[in-house]
Amino acid sequence: MELESVLHFLENKTILVTGATGFLAKVFVEKILRCQPNIKKLYLLLRATDTESVSHRLHHEVFGKKLFKIQRDKWGEKFSSFLSEKVVAVAGDVSLHNFGIKDQILIEEMLEEIDIIVHSAATTRLDERFDVAMDTNTMGAYNAINFAKMCHKIEFFLQVSTAYVCGEAKGQIPEKPFLMGQTLKSSSELDINLEKQLIMKKLSELQSQNANQETITSIMKEFGTIRANLHGWPNTYVFTKAMGEMVVTNMKGNIPLIITRPTVIIGTLSEPFPGWIEDVRTIDYVFVEYFKGAITSFVGNPKITADLIPVDMVTNSMIIAMLVHSKNNTSNNLIYHIGTSLRNPIKLSEIQDIMHLYITKNPWLKNYGKSGTLYEKFTFNPNYTEDLEFPHYKGSRLKRIMNMYRPYLHFEGIFDDKNTEKLRMAIKGVGSVERKFNLDPKSIDWKEYLVNVHFPGLLKYSMQPKM
Ligand SMILES: NC(=O)c1ccc[n+]([C@@H]2O[C@H](COP(=O)([O-])OP(=O)(O)OC[C@H]3O[C@@H](n4cnc5c(N)ncnc54)[C@H](OP(=O)(O)O)[C@@H]3O)[C@@H](O)[C@H]2O)c1
Repeated sequence: MELESVLHFLENKTILVTGATGFLAKVFVEKILRCQPNIKKLYLLLRATDTESVSHRLHHEVFGKKLFKIQRDKWGEKFSSFLSEKVVAVAGDVSLHNFGIKDQILIEEMLEEIDIIVHSAATTRLDERFDVAMDTNTMGAYNAINFAKMCHKIEFFLQVSTAYVCGEAKGQIPEKPFLMGQTLKSSSELDINLEKQLIMKKLSELQSQNANQETITSIMKEFGTIRANLHGWPNTYVFTKAMGEMVVTNMKGNIPLIITRPTVIIGTLSEPFPGWIEDVRTIDYVFVEYFKGAITSFVGNPKITADLIPVDMVTNSMIIAMLVHSKNNTSNNLIYHIGTSLRNPIKLSEIQDIMHLYITKNPWLKNYGKSGTLYEKFTFNPNYTEDLEFPHYKGSRLKRIMNMYRPYLHFEGIFDDKNTEKLRMAIKGVGSVERKFNLDPKSIDWKEYLVNVHFPGLLKYSMQPKM
């Protein structure tokens, strides 16, 4: 497979991307525009009420980001006209039929032109309100696959899921699809329509009690956790993402479906440049709070393998998965775990050592000695229960945050990635493709990446303006 064949595959394609203001989809869009400027068109679905606000979001929250620096430098003054030629921002909401797009002419054009749909939009809040998570992650997937089925020449539907749809599984976790109604507890039965009815019932009960928004939010969050736990998932996010997978798998019909399941996505390894990160999230909160001197310990079993994956490897895997499927013309191997725990594992104990090594050399706080001796070594502690204000989450107690992250910092599973390995094999030995679309976890030198790329990236792109 030559580099040309990858680039040729993307040439003249029209791709609809949902969730393009988000972290992952933005990196995907940047890569596509950089590696194949002869793409025909990118429809970017953004949440907005009108064309003015959608255009504002597109320019500020997508192309205004430093992530697009290389593109801006390359195109210079022509960058705006390049974007106007290639990118169409569409105001829409995945929780609505036809994404709530009002312009019928635009819908017809999209249905006529789209070759590929990359559905990345989601609410990624672990303890999201059940109604919001159901509408976004499950019904969003339903609306997106329905839209795909109406497209005249659709080639692929790529659903971005998460590796943690497996719940708190242990051992080697296979890349296996969900059956409709499957749960993680043998004692429970799952009916998505029933879950939707329960949500409606709960909401109407709350309305009849004249509950205020704060109460409704709190009860709907709790309700999501209860229903997720009942069926064996640790939180509402992964429960509704798993149901999203069930829906697209069940409804895909003849459409080739690719489901990618990334693990914990962190900053870029190398492209478009090393260390880019959108903002502080997931395990990065722990790094940042420690580097800021706010915490020296957090809940977690130091013996477990943490599965972190740089975002550019995720987007490369998405592109190569589509390419390989197009060449093989097959609907097999549709689930891809995208992580590192099998091929290049790193334990939490090693991460805590690397955190200390980094911060003693690069203290973030000015009043900490240059030698960094004041930074106590960080520890992941299985029994840690301290109840502190967690500075990054306004008004949130550390205990609540720890409870949310606890399953992931005690996670004893390893993500098998046989299908993703086949993608690596497909491009193996073709130096230019392997370099340009690196998806090999073994190429990550964890100490080098964390100390010299990811941690400085966290400081530079997400913390600097606030410090
Ligand atoms: N980040 C990770 O570590 C990770 C790991 C595994 C899997 N994933 C999956 O990867 C995908 C992307 O995650 P991410 O980290 O990029 O998330 P993110 O930064 O939170 O972005 C989510 C995107 O979805 C959009 N969205 C949410 N609700 C929507 C709605 N009703 N209609 C239209 N758009 C909506 C958001 O738009 P607004 O800007 O309007 O909110 C945003 O653009 C998700 O499917 C997630 O489940 C992420």
